[in-house]
Amino acid sequence: MVGSALVRQLQARGYRHLLLRTRAELDLLDQSAVFGFLARERPAMIFIAAARVGGIQANNTLRADFLYENLQISANLIQGAHQAGTQRLMYFASNCIYPRACPQPMAEEHLLTGPLEPTNEPYAIAKIAGLKLCESLQRQHGRDYISVIPASLYGPNDNYDPANSHVLPALLRRAHEARERGDPELVVWGSGTPRREFLYVDDLAQACVMLAEQGYRGPPINIGSGSDLSIRELAEAVVSTVGYRGRLVFDASKPDGIPRKLLDSSRMLATGWQPTTGLTQGLRMACDSAPWQRALRAA
Ligand SMILES: NC(=O)c1ccc[n+]([C@@H]2O[C@H](COP(=O)([O-])OP(=O)(O)OC[C@H]3O[C@@H](n4cnc5c(N)ncnc54)[C@H](OP(=O)(O)O)[C@@H]3O)[C@@H](O)[C@H]2O)c1
Repeated sequence: MVGSALVRQLQARGYRHLLLRTRAELDLLDQSAVFGFLARERPAMIFIAAARVGGIQANNTLRADFLYENLQISANLIQGAHQAGTQRLMYFASNCIYPRACPQPMAEEHLLTGPLEPTNEPYAIAKIAGLKLCESLQRQHGRDYISVIPASLYGPNDNYDPANSHVLPALLRRAHEARERGDPELVVWGSGTPRREFLYVDDLAQACVMLAEQGYRGPPINIGSGSDLSIRELAEAVVSTVGYRGRLVFDASKPDGIPRKLLDSSRMLATGWQPTTGLTQGLRMACDSAPWQRALRAA
């Protein structure tokens, strides 16, 4: 999702020499393949949007996979970039790297000030390691390797896998399926009370390309919309977008995760960037680009 939004943004800004590889062409877990690719191509700048990503259940159960693969992808690309002489790199961390009991909104200074949320600790540890590798190469070797910390994202090319997706795409899909089947109720995981912040992925891509063009060389920086809503409010917005008219039921036996996750994006907002896609418009666009809508249009 993030990679394709970056490509859209870069192409819209006129960048033509984009080096893009699928997993089949370059497995980022393969260190010698990654080092060889970077040494041959010597990119001027690298955006690391690749990662093993998933929702709360996948993070909590595939713990070893999430830790190992994200450590490996980050280490291969960041160290490989340094060895290949690439001076500029942007690394995508995640809002889950902040402590579970972090003061809200979560400012960049709160990183590593307390224990992490247990359900996604392995993923967060790997992301923190990547961020620290960037920071350390910046300090030790003067590389311009920066990290961005986005809020929860949604938009085109989101992951709608029933067992492995984040809350917003999971809700969109399930509301669509409930409407198609005419289900009288839609069960939502958790109590509905946790609060979350969402950013439309093209707004993130615009922020990142702007930072790159401005030559930002500072510490890790939060990128969020600046406001949050409860999962209950999100579910209501989703069913209204999808046109599902059944009842919402909240299953409090399922895990809620961290109670609140709002980024303090004041440093990013001070650069002049601000998101332009509100939740209602963003949900509509996400819905229109979802795989089932594309399939309907193709039929
Ligand atoms: N989604 C969010 O809400 C969110 C929020 C904050 C931060 N972020 C960060 O943004 C970044 C991108 O997230 P996303 O949502 O765009 O994830 P995504 O849609 O799952 O994209 C991840 C990409 O990484 C590729 N990849 C994974 N393992 C690979 C490997 N071994 N070799 C080559 N490619 C590999 C995947 O390829 P395949 O398609 O072949 O699997 C996929 O294209 C992540 O670092 C994530 O932490 C995301």
